[in-house]
Amino acid sequence: MEQMTAVPIPRSDILVFFGATGDLAYKKIFPALYAMTRDDALDLPVVGVAHSGWDVEQLRARARDSVVQAARDQHEEVDDAVLAALLARLRYVDGDYNDAATFAGIKQAIADAASPLHYLAIPPSLFGTVVEGLQRSGCAEHARVVVEKPFGRDLASARALNATLHAVFPEDAIFRIDHYLGKEAVQNLLYLRFANTVLEPVWNRDYIDCVQITMAEAFGVDGRGAFYDGVGTIRDVLQNHLLQVVSLLAMDAPNGGEAGSQDAEKLRLLRAMRPVSPRQVVRGQYAGYRAIDGVAPDSDVETFVALCLYIDTWRWAGVPFYLRAGKQLPITSTQVVIDMKPPPLPVFDPIRPPDSNYFRFKLSPEVVLAQGLRVKQHGEAMRGEPVELIARHRVEAEKTPYQRLLGDAIRGDNDLFSSDACVEAAWAVVDRILTGDQPVLEYATGTWGPAEAARIVNGAEGWHDPAPEASDPC
Ligand code: BG6
Repeated sequence: MEQMTAVPIPRSDILVFFGATGDLAYKKIFPALYAMTRDDALDLPVVGVAHSGWDVEQLRARARDSVVQAARDQHEEVDDAVLAALLARLRYVDGDYNDAATFAGIKQAIADAASPLHYLAIPPSLFGTVVEGLQRSGCAEHARVVVEKPFGRDLASARALNATLHAVFPEDAIFRIDHYLGKEAVQNLLYLRFANTVLEPVWNRDYIDCVQITMAEAFGVDGRGAFYDGVGTIRDVLQNHLLQVVSLLAMDAPNGGEAGSQDAEKLRLLRAMRPVSPRQVVRGQYAGYRAIDGVAPDSDVETFVALCLYIDTWRWAGVPFYLRAGKQLPITSTQVVIDMKPPPLPVFDPIRPPDSNYFRFKLSPEVVLAQGLRVKQHGEAMRGEPVELIARHRVEAEKTPYQRLLGDAIRGDNDLFSSDACVEAAWAVVDRILTGDQPVLEYATGTWGPAEAARIVNGAEGWHDPAPEASDPC
């Protein structure tokens, strides 16, 4: 299908979000809009759209609940004046996305705006219907569109989805959200690598033994069983969040601040990832998953995955990237560990543990940068012990990813969004393991997944399990 040509679009002057009565709006979007209002970063009307039979007062009540709940979760107070200012900005259009009258209502609600931002916080199966409705009603003119993940189910469906969007919007008006890219700690990986000369000389196959990334969550999928059972861990977090983290860790330096240069380097890297073969994957499912509301009683959808990935470039040839993600694990934490090769020969004592020479980047819940080194133990013998040099980052005052990404989309800054080519390249990496052909192995809740996951790191010293950070020395 032919792609639209880009015409420069000014800053968006109205936000229209589809799926306004849904879960994502409640959990992420209203709290982000509240924070933007507080920071004077929301100077436009917000139109919620859904098919729920609601009116604007019901939407306002829902937004109020969402903001109050999010503040409670963060142990913060709600500023009533800020909340009132946000509620005053809300408008609402109710209707079926298949009905032209719904889009006529939207057209009327945005009549005063020159460049709307349409945010599709709805299942991808509805993207086609909505973008066609936007086009037919004239709402897509001079507009941007934000789409949520998962972007497709596999490579073929992602291509089809891109074609659907491109029939209405030019590529640079399409903002594909991966909220991991809006996280400070994730962005810092790239910054750290290219703002310090000390890392680049060792950031390659000559010095790095292996890379391990664990995204562990100590909770299950209650409340979103139907969604999750249609997706599974590979589609939910590995194809997007974890491959983004690998890209930032492994890509070459972008050409300064040139527009598109980050995306170009990331794309080169993603395309050099070898498609993962089914033999390099272990899938697991936690005990009790099948009894969750919305989950099929005989479901073989994975809630845990461990795999080994290779990147066929001169920098990374032969270096295994071990990735692991799962629900109902012992802790909620995302951590990267870069194991360095041991010294060629032991000069003093044998190096034990052999992986005591590493970089550790904890991305959540705390943000920690650490370097593992060996130092001499106190005493006469030349015997060593491992130490960690640690830098911590306080995260309390940071923008949430949705706050940051929505602000970027309103301004038309797409640096932190995925391009069509990058999304497709990431699907190509996992496409062969999406068939569900490998058995799904049961694991007990509160464990590190099925015991078979250990075979993925065969040859290394086992998985590095993230642990709570020791408290600050006073
Ligand atoms: C979402 C997934 O994209 O990311 C969830 O759908 C997952 O299953 C979440 O829990 C994790 O994100 P965060 O920011 O809470 O670590």
